[in-house]
Amino acid sequence: MIDIHTHLLPGIDDGVQGQEEAENILASYQAAGFRYIVCTPHLANPFVKTNILGIRDAFVWFSQRAADFGITAIPGSELYIGAAKSKFIPFLDRFLLVETSTVEAPLFLLDRIFDFQLQGLTVIFAHIERFSWFSLDNPTAVRMQEMGVLFQVNIEGIQNGDAKPFIDAGWVDFIASDNHGLSKRNPVNLQIFQKYPEIMKRSLRILDL
Ligand SMILES: [Fe+2]
Repeated sequence: MIDIHTHLLPGIDDGVQGQEEAENILASYQAAGFRYIVCTPHLANPFVKTNILGIRDAFVWFSQRAADFGITAIPGSELYIGAAKSKFIPFLDRFLLVETSTVEAPLFLLDRIFDFQLQGLTVIFAHIERFSWFSLDNPTAVRMQEMGVLFQVNIEGIQNGDAKPFIDAGWVDFIASDNHGLSKRNPVNLQIFQKYPEIMKRSLRILDL
């Protein structure tokens, strides 16, 4: 199994802060049968301070520890699509996890996604259930789906029911934890991934893993 959306690099963003916490979480992923974790620190998110210069070293440390737990760590990022353009880290060379305003779809959203696609990137829209404007009949959402944007829901969205309409409609390509560690939110229930074997298989097929 793979978790494509996590904030587990210690001290980098608003996710995990300490190495011991990261190690405890790695142990829980190993116990739950995960083989891959994509590290997706926030980039350009106006509400989060990210230690961009620390990402490389934190990832080197994390990937070495992950290997001790039999897990392959993959570098990536969660890019906030805002007015200013920003650098980003795609994972597995061509997958770009993005988010944007939860309140309204910015006018430039589709243009920016198309720009990424022209660069050869496959865009994955993070936690679609968390955007108040995003729904099965919202024109921007429908257009994104038509453009081949892939959609991810959070475990939390499955637990609170917000992700259900999208799962039922077959819109969900990835389930992920958006894991911010043990202190920020409720601990992620990693067992929930196994309840959706079809989506998990689809994810690995898309990623060619
Ligand atoms: Fe996230």
